[in-house]
Amino acid sequence: MTGLSASPAPTAVATTATGPRHVAIIMDGNGRWAKRRFLPRVAGHRAGAEAVRVTVKAAADMGLQALTLYAFSSENWRRSSEEVSDLMGLLRHYLRKEVAELDRNGIRLRTIGDISGLEGDLIDLVRDGVERTKDNRRLDFVLALNYGAQDEMVRAIRDIALAVRSGAMAPEDIDPTTIEARLDTSDLPPLDLLIRTSGERRLSNFLLWQAAYAELLFVDTLWPDFDGKALAAAIADFGTRERRFGGR
Ligand code: FPP
Repeated sequence: MTGLSASPAPTAVATTATGPRHVAIIMDGNGRWAKRRFLPRVAGHRAGAEAVRVTVKAAADMGLQALTLYAFSSENWRRSSEEVSDLMGLLRHYLRKEVAELDRNGIRLRTIGDISGLEGDLIDLVRDGVERTKDNRRLDFVLALNYGAQDEMVRAIRDIALAVRSGAMAPEDIDPTTIEARLDTSDLPPLDLLIRTSGERRLSNFLLWQAAYAELLFVDTLWPDFDGKALAAAIADFGTRERRFGGR
């Protein structure tokens, strides 16, 4: 398809006509979902894990390039030891059960965050899942595990400081590209759309650098009720946005 003479004059404003390539979600509201049903919090997280399964499949079917989910933040360790252990148990269960299905669906599992802070067997499960799916290209499914954007930036800045101290880099060489190259997301497409469920309007230390020009969408749906239809609605909303990237 060329149609050179018929194509509209190029403008400086990027529109969202092509749809988002990279969507990230702050999965919030598991606890409230459970509370409304007089169930323990773990039941909400369990239902949340099912919503993860369904949404990842839908994202691949819709042709997204990357879906990043905030599964466990570097601050979530402050929750009760019972809840932390429930979340780790669910993650363990999910990886044991779903990696084969991800692989069958052509989905590549990846992570961002400092996974060295997880329990040893979980680190192995994550590494095995990443290794097993590494040649898949349909969708990058990125689990944020022990992730915090400030921690990510601290790690990147330390790396740059070491390069400067060793003489490999001059302070004047530091620019957004040198920083981006050291973030956990360095080989993912730019973040287009950041969704938070459950009506809260905060970024909670998620992808702070990457969100600089992302479209933000806050939906009231509690995470366990999120599904392919909700993802399609979010993508349709994104399609109505006019992206300027600081231009006019
Ligand atoms: C927030 O709900 C959600 C989390 C703390 C983490 C998300 C975890 C899952 C979806 C389950 C496991 C994930 C995988 C990948 C298997 P909340 O407890 O803060 O909800 P509340 O604000 O209503 O209390």
